[in-house]
Amino acid sequence: MIVQPTPENLARAGAALRHGKLVVMPTETVYGVAADAWNAEAVMRIFEIKERPRENPIIVHVAHPEEAQNVAAEFNEAARRLTERFWPGPLTVVVPKREELPKEVTAGASTVAIRMPAHQVALDLIRACGCPIAAPSANRFMQLSPTSAEAVDARIAEHVEFILDGGPCVVGLESTVVDLTDETPRILRPGGVSRADIEACLGTSLGVLPPGALRRSPGMYQRHYAPRSRVEIVDVAPPGSAALVFEEPSSERQIKMPLDAAAYGAALYRALRTLDMLEDEVIYVEAPPDWPDWEAVYDRLRKASAHDHGSLAS
Ligand code: TXA
Ligand code: MG
Repeated sequence: MIVQPTPENLARAGAALRHGKLVVMPTETVYGVAADAWNAEAVMRIFEIKERPRENPIIVHVAHPEEAQNVAAEFNEAARRLTERFWPGPLTVVVPKREELPKEVTAGASTVAIRMPAHQVALDLIRACGCPIAAPSANRFMQLSPTSAEAVDARIAEHVEFILDGGPCVVGLESTVVDLTDETPRILRPGGVSRADIEACLGTSLGVLPPGALRRSPGMYQRHYAPRSRVEIVDVAPPGSAALVFEEPSSERQIKMPLDAAAYGAALYRALRTLDMLEDEVIYVEAPPDWPDWEAVYDRLRKASAHDHGSLAS
């Protein structure tokens, strides 16, 4: 049930979470399906309704940087610097986990991914619940993340108490996930905060992931963020095809995308979702510029166009 985030509805949603129920919440990146992070049973239901592999850990959302200490065993200098600079915002830090945090949240890992979202409704919900919130994107495994309340997967909608409508997500791509458990910080998933901004904040270069390293990051798959139609990245889309284009569209089956990385990212999932409804065999995507600020967009386009269904990236 989609509801407006009135104070009454936020209070009801917070109480539902405290009682072990699930709620869909908006964030600035994508909509997430939320559970009380301390409630292992509720967290397990998230895995079930998303059909999410058990080895894929979930991000914990807090309403204040200090609340990170409740789930993290240790917050090093890099974590402090990054969160001071980018929270609230689309940055997730991976740090050692507190023993007491249910292992279901972190899929058995000794680390926990934490972020403070920059969306008033998400922050209000965390405060109403009174607990940190475990929340993956509110889509089924491998599929496109929802960037509006209406885009939340129907099966997920059936199993939650409320879908809080926070309007369209302004970032539109998931958060940047940075692993801070090693001496050298590394990006596990590019996202709303750019590599250049993270490096500028830390004053060091981020490490590169060695080949095979994605295995260290459970839940990073070659194919992901994918519509049902096959996605092909091309220089110029065939006339009349279902496509994301940069020039004037040749038909109403094409969507003109902005030539700005942030605006493109904000529009991408909605555009792919719209073209997916045409049920064509292929959605063509004109290749964006190969510039550093397009890293997150490229990551999602590569994963959406990958043919590999479900095996771990190696
Ligand atoms: O923007 C976002 O991050 C959204 C909103 C809802 O906050 N959430 C999101 O969650 O994208 P999800 O579950 O779809 O993606 C979380 C990613 C996964 O790829 C997972 O592998 C990684 O974060 N992750 C979570 N905990 C981790 C950990 N302890 N170590 C390494 N990676 C972790
Ligand atoms: Mg996801």
